[in-house]
Amino acid sequence: MRHSFIVTLAAACAALTALPAFGDDAVPSAERGHVVAVVSGCHDCHSAGYPESGGILDPATALAGSGVGFRGPWGTTYPSNLRLVAAERDEAGFVKHLSTLKTLPPMPYFNLHAMPETDIRSLFLYIRSLGEPGEPAPAYVPPGEEPTTPYIVFAPPTMPAG
Ligand code: HEC
Repeated sequence: MRHSFIVTLAAACAALTALPAFGDDAVPSAERGHVVAVVSGCHDCHSAGYPESGGILDPATALAGSGVGFRGPWGTTYPSNLRLVAAERDEAGFVKHLSTLKTLPPMPYFNLHAMPETDIRSLFLYIRSLGEPGEPAPAYVPPGEEPTTPYIVFAPPTMPAG
């Protein structure tokens, strides 16, 4: 009785430790990549017009970057054209780039480091399915230089002293 209880308990523990890490059980696919891009917020910045549209994806601009900069103490950065990022690499190179990437704000690169590899692979398949890569986003503008594009001020205002 007691023995079979212990055996059952041990089997239950083995089953628990054998659980796959989050996302590791999924087979990479472009469909999954679409979900990942929406839910993890990539379209919010990298697809021009997407947030303003209330989440309607325009196939012409999806993940093709944005000409509206984010201006803060780091200068002005532009959400990159992710179609070019995917076009310039094979799947393994894309996985390596996204899981080790470090950028200026407000790109949440640290969130990408936590993304399961199968999801990054899915993202690659999805982005490659989007069509022509198109043009790069405008180049980074250093602090103190005036951007020639529209931009969003992305820094807290300086509070008056005392
Ligand atoms: C808050 C806006 C924002 C969100 C959300 C966002 N990005 Fe970005 N991303 C940027 C900006 C701005 C840059 C450019 C940073 C720089 O110039 O250093 C960037 C840069 C990148 C780069 C580097 C491109 C290169 O040329 O190597 C990759 C890759 C990237 N983003 C992928 C993603 C993915 C995938 C997601 C969704 C999980 C995402 N980003 C979500 C704003 C964002």
